[in-house]
Amino acid sequence: MTVRIIGTGSCLPAQVVTNDDLAQFVDTSDEWIKSRTGIRERRVAKEETTAGMCIEAAKKAMEEAGVSAEEIDLIIVGTITGDYVTPSTACQIQAGIHAVNATAFDISAACSGFLFALNTAHAFIQTGKYRTALILGAETLSRIVDWKDRSTCVLFGDGAGAAVVRAEETGLIAYDQGSDGARGMCLACPGRENNNILVEGKKELGYVSMDGQEVYKFAVSTVPASIQKVLDEAGCSADDIKYFVLHQANLRILQSVSKRLHVPMERFPVAIDHYANISAGTVPILLDEMNRKGMLERGDKIILSGFGAGLTWGTALLEW
Ligand code: UT7
Repeated sequence: MTVRIIGTGSCLPAQVVTNDDLAQFVDTSDEWIKSRTGIRERRVAKEETTAGMCIEAAKKAMEEAGVSAEEIDLIIVGTITGDYVTPSTACQIQAGIHAVNATAFDISAACSGFLFALNTAHAFIQTGKYRTALILGAETLSRIVDWKDRSTCVLFGDGAGAAVVRAEETGLIAYDQGSDGARGMCLACPGRENNNILVEGKKELGYVSMDGQEVYKFAVSTVPASIQKVLDEAGCSADDIKYFVLHQANLRILQSVSKRLHVPMERFPVAIDHYANISAGTVPILLDEMNRKGMLERGDKIILSGFGAGLTWGTALLEW
């Protein structure tokens, strides 16, 4: 018994922000952003919320899966930008779709959030107590980036992606996940600091900071190794995999992984050009885009891989 993805959905903010738009606010250029990252534009939330986008994405995934809200017994959301500290985004989704029989909680694993949600759902379903799960990766990163810091604000976007997974005989074949907390501060965003009656002075909320080159080096070494691990565990070679659906942090990272695995770039779908980096949202949004374009057929083997803050990484090999 394993889990299979039986429906996908996504929701993006309406507002497109191009590189030229950003160049009006910070000292940057379309040329720099495109050549260093592959990003042309991103979506930025104005009225949209993390939970609101999740609810829309979830409804689409449930419609494709043909699953009712009552059938969902688990909701797991990978996010670092929920609308509330509590209730969790998952509990907000539960209320929004009336999934009255579900247990709902969030996972904080940044860009690996969707993969951690998938692997956690798999583990829960393996116990036999759960059968159908709604898993999501969603962010409103525009809230936590410093819009005056050109080294980070050009990289990120907002959006939500969802999938319904169910207990089935085929689906998730192998997975690998891990963390390296010792290197965590190379991509960080502080929470609220102590600001109580004992502390003098008002504290400002901090923003995302990143040592881009450290994270880059981590990505181009850890991701191919993690992919190789799941290939070995599944007894597959890279040739057996139709698509490598990777977290979209930088086009150059995708190109480097493609080179290291000796797999042509055509098998690495790209969304970073139009959505930028949506952390936990990137993998499920790209997967939904591929699914809706008809790129995936029953029986195809694909690899999903997320990596980033924590540091964390998660990779899954699955049969569609
Ligand atoms: O999703 C989580 C995982 N995240 C990642 O995997 C991100 C990994 N890292 C990266 O993708 C890249 O390191 C970045 C895209 C973040 C940066 O690219 P880079 O080639 O490593 O550039 P850099 O940070 O070394 O900066 C090069 C230059 C610097 O100027 P000097 O010191 O050479 O004069 C920066 O100040 O580019 C400058 N710069 C910019 N210039 C124009 C930095 N940001 C900008 C900008 N526009 N937006």
